[in-house]
Amino acid sequence: MKELREEFYGKLKDVKSVSDLDRLKAEFLGKKGKITARLRSLKDLPPMERRIWGKVLNDLKKELERVIREKREELLDELPSQDPTLPGTPWTYEVGALHPIKVVGGEILRVLENMGFEIGEGPEVETDENNFTLLNIPEWHPARDMQQSLYLDNGMLLRTHTSPFQIRYMSTHSPPLKAATFGKVFRADEFDATHSPVFHQIEGFAVDRNISLSSLKWVLEQIVKALFGEGSKVKFVPSYFPFTEPSMEVAVWYRGEWLEMLGCGMIHPQVLRNVGIDPDVWSGYAFGIGVERFAMVKYGIEDIRHFYENDKRFLDQFRYDRWI
Ligand code: PHE
Repeated sequence: MKELREEFYGKLKDVKSVSDLDRLKAEFLGKKGKITARLRSLKDLPPMERRIWGKVLNDLKKELERVIREKREELLDELPSQDPTLPGTPWTYEVGALHPIKVVGGEILRVLENMGFEIGEGPEVETDENNFTLLNIPEWHPARDMQQSLYLDNGMLLRTHTSPFQIRYMSTHSPPLKAATFGKVFRADEFDATHSPVFHQIEGFAVDRNISLSSLKWVLEQIVKALFGEGSKVKFVPSYFPFTEPSMEVAVWYRGEWLEMLGCGMIHPQVLRNVGIDPDVWSGYAFGIGVERFAMVKYGIEDIRHFYENDKRFLDQFRYDRWI
């Protein structure tokens, strides 16, 4: 018992903090503590001895509890006093922010959602069928070339546009329908100021009984105005895509020149037939928006590579908290 007592006081000398003290308390008085264990083994002693040792042990226990209590107060007194009326610490770390592509893509999606488009998602790895064949892209079309598209060993490819989402959606939903998607597309392009092997598109389309070119023009004008303001100038230029007929490109007047921002058109009757929709009853429009293009025009960014290099000085300019 004497040794136990000496051991305790020896260790108490090394106690420098409240947590040291807690550890010491656990060692002697905790559930598996040295005193506790001995108290528990009292029951194995004959009654006479049990009474004597019981008293000695309990006295020691009380003594240690008191000493620990006193030591705790002493330690707490040493802590520097704190002033609870001081103002709190402001943000000492930076919060994250959305990437500008996500910001612009989100703005476009919101406009579409408000017009009743259902937002969906398609895979980045696509079949040749969905990416080309069912979109009426002929066997000989240059986009099918290995030089322009990124193929995988299993014959599938990284989608070259978001248009395969049209096929996926239209073959699983029946008209009238209206849907859109936002995602990455891949091309075997150079990486320079205006080209990137990965970029983002938003695909939107609608199929109904009386869809016409003017429905399409109206929707696209809403998107352009929502992003570039009521006063922005839009122009529709004839173009060609195998999956739309007629086809157009939309150009926006920006810093003294017309910039092509998206491709669109009336869904080709063959594409409708490919997904089991009767083109004599239904018609539709589709458009594919280049999100980087929109973001570049909106914010005056001259080099597409800025979007992927993640230079914090670039990204910081698009933080929501800087705008408020
Ligand atoms: N998929 C076309 C492209 O990537 C854009 C487009 C989409 C054109 C829908 C017409 C209709 O260039």
